[in-house]
Amino acid sequence: MPASDELIHLESITKVYGTGDGTVAALQDFSLSVASGESLAVMGPSGSGKSTLMNILGCLDTPTSGRYWFAGQDVSRLNETELAHVRNRRIGFVFQQFQLLPKLSAWRNVELPLLYRNVRDRRSLALQALEQVGLANRVDHRPSQLSGGQQQRVAIARALVTNPDLILADEPTGNLDTASSRDVLAVIRELNEQGRTIIIITHDPEVAPVAKRTVHVRDGRLVEQVAA
Ligand SMILES: Nc1ncnc2c1ncn2[C@@H]1O[C@H](COP(=O)(O)OP(=O)(O)OP(=O)(O)O)[C@@H](O)[C@H]1O
Ligand SMILES: [Mg+2]
Repeated sequence: MPASDELIHLESITKVYGTGDGTVAALQDFSLSVASGESLAVMGPSGSGKSTLMNILGCLDTPTSGRYWFAGQDVSRLNETELAHVRNRRIGFVFQQFQLLPKLSAWRNVELPLLYRNVRDRRSLALQALEQVGLANRVDHRPSQLSGGQQQRVAIARALVTNPDLILADEPTGNLDTASSRDVLAVIRELNEQGRTIIIITHDPEVAPVAKRTVHVRDGRLVEQVAA
């Protein structure tokens, strides 16, 4: 069972893909706890199970066995609809490809997650989120009128606008140059300092220190935990 301050509690998670002789155990006996307000980096080589882990943490998929509690709720056996409900309400995603809609301005992109839930004052919430990522002066720009780092900050604002319990970032600086990466990491660090729980998945040893704790995944297993 999770402790009361734990946002994430994975207990002996296994994820097996395929059937018969073709099975792959992408995660094995994987246990991990993340406290509310923590920042965690997940590192590991290609094929080690990072995306599989992200999909489970983000309620995009369920484990084959083991248990996952998110904010005290057992989410390991939820169906698609129930998973989507948790995901949409409680988790903000940031991807390597920013996944902004090219025809929409920055604030229209940020507003999108609110459209699905009939929130009022969407524009002012979107502007607040853009201000938090340092883009108050770019709200009417389209993605093509923004630098890569600015586009990723719009994506972070979009993740933030629903006030999620968790921000889950998969290689958020993978498409950025060094200077833009620095800006994006500074925003992520600041959000964590304000109390937001962050999990960042990365290959890049320069990115991991943005989080206060790093875990390494190898062959589907958690192999070491290092406190920064
Ligand atoms: N849908 C799937 N069906 C079958 N096998 C899969 C599937 N997804 C992942 N795998 C296998 O599970 C293992 C872990 O894959 P995963 O994508 O989680 O690795 P990763 O750490 O994200 O790698 P990368 O850094 O290259 O993105 C790999 O052996 C992969 O081939
Ligand atoms: Mg991956």
